[in-house]
Amino acid sequence: MKARVKKVFGFLETPVDALVLANSVDPHLDRSFFYLFDAPSGLFEGSIAIAHPDGELDVLASPLETESAHVAAKSDPHVRVHTAGRDETEATVKKLLGGASTIALNYAELTHAGFLQLDKMRPGASWVDATKAVRRARATKDAEEIARLRRAAEIGSTVGGEIPGVLRPGLREVELASEIEYRMNRAGASGPSFSTIVAFGAHGAEPHYTPGDTRLEPGNSIVCDFGAYYRRYASDITRSFHFGTRDAEMKAVHETVEAAQRAAFDTIRPGVSAKEVHLAAERVIDASRWKGRLIHGVGHSIGLAVHDGWYYGPKIDDPLEEGMVFTVEPGIYLPGKGGVRIEDDVVVTKSGYEFLTTAPRQYIEVAA
Ligand code: GLY
Ligand code: MN
Ligand code: MN
Repeated sequence: MKARVKKVFGFLETPVDALVLANSVDPHLDRSFFYLFDAPSGLFEGSIAIAHPDGELDVLASPLETESAHVAAKSDPHVRVHTAGRDETEATVKKLLGGASTIALNYAELTHAGFLQLDKMRPGASWVDATKAVRRARATKDAEEIARLRRAAEIGSTVGGEIPGVLRPGLREVELASEIEYRMNRAGASGPSFSTIVAFGAHGAEPHYTPGDTRLEPGNSIVCDFGAYYRRYASDITRSFHFGTRDAEMKAVHETVEAAQRAAFDTIRPGVSAKEVHLAAERVIDASRWKGRLIHGVGHSIGLAVHDGWYYGPKIDDPLEEGMVFTVEPGIYLPGKGGVRIEDDVVVTKSGYEFLTTAPRQYIEVAA
């Protein structure tokens, strides 16, 4: 992980003596901790990573993850693991940071309580915000990250292709969500990368709907948005279907979203500003009779988190870079009726992009 440590330091605007990433209690864990320390399993609550400008890393691991920590350290000669109880941890941090006067922290993920503890361990230090540097480093993925993201996306795609075969009248949203998560785990996921969204009928008009007890009825449109974690890396895929009797409007909505997504794909290559991807999709939707019904940005980066720190929308000028991995997810939302969203994961290549997700995207009517 030396290259990743050096990558983060390279993006810092102020020279610092160390970068400290400190986890609190789940869910207040900093995914960047795992960017620098590739532990195969575990939460690492209360654990602290101290990265040095030469690329070396000291990790104070929680006693609950001693084995995982040692596995990670064994495969990386630039990592030193210290496992100890809380009192010893404080003494070790004091010792390791003794000579450091300017220290970077990931303000975006560190809790205030976590900061106060660090401030007590290293009083008088001058703290610097590393949020942008960490985000910038994580934005372009290395080969190992892309391989894991590809596998996470394959798991999502496999399950996406199986959904039509699972649908039956009376199925509840929560049951379909559980089925999706079970199938992803069976296909190799360590768990869902976020809470699965399954929305029947009018619920599909709410992009981040929480599934409930609603039962599937003929005539419903269906939105399923889900993703897998594979070795800590996330996928994020949405597929929309129609159940039973044809609805000409929803079919046309689906075809418009597909066309919007294709237009967005066509813009993707290094150097293009992020807003161009969004605007390409938005233009297609706004030229249709559903003008204004795209109600969110068309994508976000994925990586160690499903929302990995970077979004694109109509005002984002950041240029796309080779190695970025993000979603392309236009949708049309019709309150009281339903919605269609199609979401895929892509990696930016030297000359364009490559799909990570592959499940069929076209309009699928499932017989009731
Ligand atoms: N799964 C939430 C999203 O697509 O952003
Ligand atoms: Mn998404
Ligand atoms: Mn999604």
